[in-house]
Amino acid sequence: MSKPFYITTPIYYVNARPHIGHAYTTIACDTIARRQRMLGFDTYFLTGTDEHGQKIERAAQAAGTDPQKFADEVSAQFRGLWQRMGITNDDYIRTTEERHKKGVGELFRRIRDKGYIYKGTYTGQYCVSEELYVDGLKPGDPCPTCGRITETVQEENYFFKLSAFQDKLLELYNSQPDFIRPETRRNEVISFVKSGLRDLSVSRSTFQWGIPVPDDPKHVIYVWLDALSNYITALGYGSDDTTKYKKYWPAEVQMIGKEIVRFHCVYWPAFLMAAEIPLPKAIVAHGWLLFEENKMSKSRGNIVRAETILDVLGNDALRYFLLREIVFGQDGSFSFDALVQRYNADLANGLGNLASRTLTMINRYFKGEVPFPSQRAARKAGDDVIAEQAEKAIKECKALFDQYQFSRGLEAAWALVGAVDKYIVENEPWALGEKQDEESRARLATVLYTSAEALRIVTALAHPVIPEATAKIWAQLGLDGIAKFDLSTLKWGQLQLGSKLGKVEPVFPRADKKAIERMQEMEDQQRGGVVTDAQPGVPEKTAAATPSAEAAKPEAAKPAATVSSDGKITIDDFAKVDLRVAQVKVAERVKGADKLLRLEVDLGYETRQILAGIAEAYAPETLIGRKVVIVANLAPRKMRGLESNGMIVAASLEGGKPVLASFLEEVPLGARLK
Ligand code: ME8
Ligand code: MG
Repeated sequence: MSKPFYITTPIYYVNARPHIGHAYTTIACDTIARRQRMLGFDTYFLTGTDEHGQKIERAAQAAGTDPQKFADEVSAQFRGLWQRMGITNDDYIRTTEERHKKGVGELFRRIRDKGYIYKGTYTGQYCVSEELYVDGLKPGDPCPTCGRITETVQEENYFFKLSAFQDKLLELYNSQPDFIRPETRRNEVISFVKSGLRDLSVSRSTFQWGIPVPDDPKHVIYVWLDALSNYITALGYGSDDTTKYKKYWPAEVQMIGKEIVRFHCVYWPAFLMAAEIPLPKAIVAHGWLLFEENKMSKSRGNIVRAETILDVLGNDALRYFLLREIVFGQDGSFSFDALVQRYNADLANGLGNLASRTLTMINRYFKGEVPFPSQRAARKAGDDVIAEQAEKAIKECKALFDQYQFSRGLEAAWALVGAVDKYIVENEPWALGEKQDEESRARLATVLYTSAEALRIVTALAHPVIPEATAKIWAQLGLDGIAKFDLSTLKWGQLQLGSKLGKVEPVFPRADKKAIERMQEMEDQQRGGVVTDAQPGVPEKTAAATPSAEAAKPEAAKPAATVSSDGKITIDDFAKVDLRVAQVKVAERVKGADKLLRLEVDLGYETRQILAGIAEAYAPETLIGRKVVIVANLAPRKMRGLESNGMIVAASLEGGKPVLASFLEEVPLGARLK
């Protein structure tokens, strides 16, 4: 029986739709899963969505819908995207599914029965965006992780005795140095744990959207305990059928982004230790995808959607770029320029060109049959060099992919592409093809066989990364079922002599400058929809607000409120205006505009950029920390090249300066005025 190999992605929050940051992790895991299958492992690959907690509850509220409906829609967007991208996950878990809720209840009960859960009172700061309890802060302090203002929580909770696991965790990191990868993340975790662990609140009672605590349904289970459990509930933990759980747990690799290391490397193993459940073999944390110098994230509004790249350059282009361009484990920048450059250099001109010229010449000069290389006569040293390069690529790729060093692994494979290109140029098969003498024919056969065999090897090595194009090239080489090919047997000289090529067609058409513009435009259009990102319920037509007010299309506007003849509106008309409390986090002057301030305001569930004409009334620094009222569902518009997403409400004084609306009592961020 083949060895089981279980791999997981984080389960993504459904507060916003997917972007290429999520795609990055999913693609990396999909690549590993595909490769492990080719190596003969009994592979099981899990992804899914994280749907409970205050963050989701508020996002649903902001969208004016109930959390379940909201979660259904966004979860379907993630699932649909993965399907479109051909992601080979074996299951898709949602935390609102019965099977998950049952398993979480079971895990909670088990930890409690072992004596690691007790009741107490929590008073402290909580970051809703990170769903994280933060120690050592005062009310109003920002979250050290994401910078959003934390909220004060005071409630009776269930606590998990995390403090009891400090030594056991340190022993784990010590005895299994590969448990946390890479090394930098491991060091951070060790110093965090060494600095002392406090017990962790694992329930909430001030909101509803979660899994009830067994036997005490006034409380819901802390969203991270709920979410982390997905890795075992998806396998049937806590259900009647635990076949998969027994077979696949513990996981071989749990892949995450670096911002959720603490949850996965401290809380998760501690929960499992408490429940006496085996620990995963490795938590592997990658870095962040940056866009315009910041972490790509929904709240910053600097996301790029995978769909745009799929539409213009295709699935393989996105996969190849992310894994080739970013050094796995480190942060890396995304840009459309770099994407197109990489695509053209490595895929269109690199692998694509190698495939098309090699196969076209075999068609032309050998009637589409792989020619016999000459054994003695007409051999040149360069032929053996290619064979050696190929063996080297196979060896290096294996070592590097085993270490999840995707970029270096691809570099090693593409070194072979480069070598064969050079080999073809030096040997001029097109010139040999014009001659009829025996020696030229023998030489031509050798050169084309060598090129085709190298092509086959690169294709097999690259298949887990670029599955679509490699499947086509494989078929063009006359081979069948690349996914079924046993990668562990790959070596030089396996290409069947005399085998018939399939139909030869180009796989990577060159991209021109227009491709960059097209993608940028598509994203700009969507960017106008930042406001509606959190509102999957809004139909596409109204959601796709245009980025610039000047260019506003009439059909994109919401239907105007109906005003009766006496100038009165109905309550429903008023309800269309989404007025909310927000806090100013950043305020600065806009160059060349005396009246404008650029503000970043925090709504609790997201941060917005708003341009306000209040620079003559307020010095920017006096606004920081101030709570204001904003119109949160105003269509975005551009001013001075900057996008404004909403409007600050102020009293407008005749001939005087505007005065911002404010409150005398404490009000939570995001609260709606109605
Ligand atoms: O944290 N660069 O969900 P999430 C790289 N529900 N990776 C990125 C990224 C970026 N800019 N943006 C997102 C959660 N990711 C929890 C997880 S697990 C039990 C619960 C990827 O929607 C990366 O894998 O915020 C990151 O860890 C994950 O998406 C966070 O997704
Ligand atoms: Mg996140």
